[in-house]
Amino acid sequence: MAKIIVTGGQKLKGELRVEGAKNAVLPILAATILNGGVNVIKNCPQLKDVGIMLEILKRLGCRAGMKNGTITVDSSTLNSTEIPAELAMEMRSSIILLGPLLARCGKVTISYPGGCEIGPRPIDLHLKSLKLMGAKVQDVHRGFIYGEAETLNGYDIQLDYPSVGATENIMLAAVFAEGETYIRNAAKEPEIVDLQNYLRKMGADVQGAGTSVIRVGGKKKKLCDVEHQVIPDRIVAGTYMVTAGITGGQLHLKDIVPEHLGAVIYNLRDAGCRINIEKNALTITGPARPRALDTLRTLPYPGFPTDMQAQIVAMLSIARGTSVVVETVFENRFQYAEELIKMGANIKLQGRIAVVKGVRGLTGTFVNARDLRGGAALVLAGLAADGETVISGTKHIERGYEKIEERLSQVGANIRRVEDGQ
Ligand code: UD1
Repeated sequence: MAKIIVTGGQKLKGELRVEGAKNAVLPILAATILNGGVNVIKNCPQLKDVGIMLEILKRLGCRAGMKNGTITVDSSTLNSTEIPAELAMEMRSSIILLGPLLARCGKVTISYPGGCEIGPRPIDLHLKSLKLMGAKVQDVHRGFIYGEAETLNGYDIQLDYPSVGATENIMLAAVFAEGETYIRNAAKEPEIVDLQNYLRKMGADVQGAGTSVIRVGGKKKKLCDVEHQVIPDRIVAGTYMVTAGITGGQLHLKDIVPEHLGAVIYNLRDAGCRINIEKNALTITGPARPRALDTLRTLPYPGFPTDMQAQIVAMLSIARGTSVVVETVFENRFQYAEELIKMGANIKLQGRIAVVKGVRGLTGTFVNARDLRGGAALVLAGLAADGETVISGTKHIERGYEKIEERLSQVGANIRRVEDGQ
């Protein structure tokens, strides 16, 4: 079990390149199943979840590999529809394989997916939509989901909630359906647009991603090989922005899409950060001490991302004044707050609301990351804290950040990773 050790007090300064988006790569990897051909995907981050998805594709019979950030998947050799339980349980995103396997092979077996511990994370919207399209899906039976569909039919689907995963699953399932599929109240995240772009390069008929209505025209004809460059990771970019905000440093972030960071930029400016936006880059300068934010709500895109909630709370914990943060997307996404409190933060929790009374400073101690973004928040808190912060549970952090210690060291952080026994 590795640990990350951060000695706080350095103002971060320098330039960082932001890696490709995990949440875009994962559905795109699921989409590779559809074309029965060659897929070349560039700008992929080297992360455990990406590795797991590649391993699943290999176990399904695809030829898949990654070299220097480029993944190649040849899905012409696919010969299984059973997603190995031990891999599915490692990663919640494995559920998006349901749609493409049903579309291409007419059947699928998957164990109930695992993933971050940030709430119950049901998959009812995925299953309901696939059933409306004509799939026979046996809901969890002894921990497994079995799906079958001789053909899928297009359907006019109204989502109860703009779920990112459900939107992706339906898009993927609909590509070979008989007739048109509409997804209304669809998620509008940039990763959905990237998936649409990928599917279109394959020759699929998809429109509307980025708006609340997506239309997929079913198609029987063969799809083609694809080459694609994945969009930058807006959550990694946002996290690095907060490292400047929380340390009063100055960072130049390159290889980003500033438009994807609208709500993050808006709130960081409100908290006193200076942000200069350029084409595919930005420079952020943190204030001597951040200002509190009045009320910040997490929302589906283009609202403030739930995946940035923990990081911004870490910053608000040392802000001047009291902030109120409301988590509307996931239940149980304030677990990390307990650890910040150990470091001296003054945070009161009431269900989905956190009242964060800014303190003058945090103090390093032993803390435990229990989920990905909560783990990142502890690293950020460590950067600003007095003394040494020792973070365990680093496997969660590694699911979403490529070489975080190396990157932050490059811009002046005193951070290192130690394996147990060292
Ligand atoms: C994706 C992201 C995750 C991000 C989240 C919200 C990936 C791999 N992960 O997760 O990082 O935090 O979007 O931006 O892209 N829900 C249901 N029933 C369902 C599906 C979802 O009730 O069938 C609920 C969830 O429990 C949650 C909310 O809807 O409360 C949002 O979930 P969803 O948008 O589906 O998130 P994910 O796709 O799991």
